[in-house]
Amino acid sequence: ASDRSRLEEIIARFAGIDGATLPVLHAIQDDFGHIPEAAIQMIADAENRSRAEIHGVVSFYHDFRAVPAGRRVIKLCRAEACQSMGGEAIAARIAAHLGLEFGETARDGSITLENIYCLGLCATAPAALVDGKPVGRLTEARAERLLREVAP
Ligand code: FES
Repeated sequence: ASDRSRLEEIIARFAGIDGATLPVLHAIQDDFGHIPEAAIQMIADAENRSRAEIHGVVSFYHDFRAVPAGRRVIKLCRAEACQSMGGEAIAARIAAHLGLEFGETARDGSITLENIYCLGLCATAPAALVDGKPVGRLTEARAERLLREVAP
């Protein structure tokens, strides 16, 4: 099915439900891996809201992506416990190595670097998620090994 008809089908599932914006967006992201530009206007029309309102929701929640994620995704915890265990220096090093800002995907689609705020892994801070798998006790050496593996 075309993107448009897939979007229509997902949006129709939530028709008539109050406050469906978030569930619709989650369903679209689950299906597409990101929120296609066209979806914003379509949701706005379906919910009688403005495009700006829907856009505001999408940009407020960091979970939603405007573009597909890279093939590998590194999410580094930037919350307090991880910061206090040296996480910031490691974050800076990883970003520099990849040449990416947090929230960015490499142009070739190979990797996405993102912040996350507490993974509940504070006991093994600094912590990260690599392709959804938790990695704890990041040291500079571990970070380097990790980078060799995900971004050779
Ligand atoms: Fe990083 Fe909790 S603060 S896992």
